[in-house]
Amino acid sequence: MLKLARSSSTVGVAAASMHKLYKTIENEVEEPLQGTVKGSIPVWIKGSLYRNGPGMFEVGEHKFKHWFDGMSMLQRFHISDGKVTYQRKFLRSDTFLNNTTSGRITINEFATAASPDPCKNIFQRFLTIFETDDMSDNTLVNVFPLKDELYTTTEIKYLNKIDPETLDRTEKNVPAKKEGETEFPAGEIVFKTQSPWKIHFNYYHSFSMTENYFVFVQQPLLSNVPKILLGRKTGYAFASSLTGYPEIKNRFRIVDRKTGEEINADHVIESDAFLYFHQINAYEEQGHIIVDISCHEDTKVLERFYMKNLTSKEYEENLKNASEPEPRRYVIPLDLGKEEKGGDMVSLERTTAKCKKIDDKTFHLQPEILADIGLEFPQINYRKYNTKKYRYIYGVAFRHKKNPLTTLAKVDASTKTYIEWEEDKCYPSEPVFVPKPRGASEDDGVVVAAVNRVGEGDDDNSCFLLVLDAKSFTEIARVEFEGIERFPYDFHGVYADDKSLKKA
Ligand SMILES: [Fe+2]
Repeated sequence: MLKLARSSSTVGVAAASMHKLYKTIENEVEEPLQGTVKGSIPVWIKGSLYRNGPGMFEVGEHKFKHWFDGMSMLQRFHISDGKVTYQRKFLRSDTFLNNTTSGRITINEFATAASPDPCKNIFQRFLTIFETDDMSDNTLVNVFPLKDELYTTTEIKYLNKIDPETLDRTEKNVPAKKEGETEFPAGEIVFKTQSPWKIHFNYYHSFSMTENYFVFVQQPLLSNVPKILLGRKTGYAFASSLTGYPEIKNRFRIVDRKTGEEINADHVIESDAFLYFHQINAYEEQGHIIVDISCHEDTKVLERFYMKNLTSKEYEENLKNASEPEPRRYVIPLDLGKEEKGGDMVSLERTTAKCKKIDDKTFHLQPEILADIGLEFPQINYRKYNTKKYRYIYGVAFRHKKNPLTTLAKVDASTKTYIEWEEDKCYPSEPVFVPKPRGASEDDGVVVAAVNRVGEGDDDNSCFLLVLDAKSFTEIARVEFEGIERFPYDFHGVYADDKSLKKA
């Protein structure tokens, strides 16, 4: 592994080249393509890494404006007997088919409004607003199993069911319309809540669970409903309705998983403002809920990923000005009526997180910083440690505003230390932990990530699947695929054992 010298001269090259990642992937790979393995992949790995993210950034001459808008492309890395094959395919959503058939963006995405239909006059276009439910089914953000089926999703009401071998979409799932109906297997509504605002609602991207509770964190990124409705008539997308309010505090809400009741509903459990996409994990310990989150101080973080009309230099500046997402721990005592000690309700040892009683109704949380490194796309040993007390977080790291998203890090939350993997000009994806069967420790396994290496010239690109030993965080193998120079620069993925998914 080539280690980068941490000199400022490499910084500009790395960030400026990042702009090249947001380009359309030209070719699908339908038949599994055998890779060339350098190193050694453990033979106990028998399964697939699935990944989801944008692979198409324009339709005809119409460009998507934001990283969160492109057409979903699914990837599958199948690992068996120390070998790896690669497939990728655009998700055949209704939106994808409509867009590619008509040559324009036919429906609003997160930050990009539909391009006008040239076949309709202004009056017809106005009427169209009332004919459509105005929601894309381009589920480009996540891919995960539900029981033995594979689904893709994003922050909209649709899910798409995927054939785990061909990556074909086999079914479009929509929410239940009647009480008692389920929208997908094993679906059940456990908790409903009202927005605390009159004409706004809070933006959520994730939540976490302990063994007994859901943990929702209301963040001060609010969507203005009249703006959404007006946007549908005036050509603005959902993102234009969102505003970050640094003066509004975050509110932590705990819901009993069995009863659906919000505990401490009469209390306000709050913290100073931060934005977040990803809660890392949560668990219960000695009458407390511990919740770990990748927190952004910057309430404009979503705006950093607008691409349209930006030069690489401007994009580089945008990213360098983004706040580092800080891995933080918040600790919430379940019994808020107990006596406080020295102004702090937290009685757990080995944490510096605090919960200060402001008055009988209001409690203010102060976080513990888990490591002095920016961390996004956090992952854990999910299979064994989701909802449980845990120690290790894997993520894509920011290093002090110099090289955003260029290294992978493993954080030890118990010692607040971290180790990293990095390589010159490389941009790794979210790292996914693959547990060793009957592994002895939490980090007994490997970490896999799809890595893009982007140089300065148009022909200077390459990519590989990286396999790290999860304990030492050192490379044990990398896999290249002939003719594949770039992977989609994507969001989320999941590893699934061969036997865990049934063919659709
Ligand atoms: Fe996400």
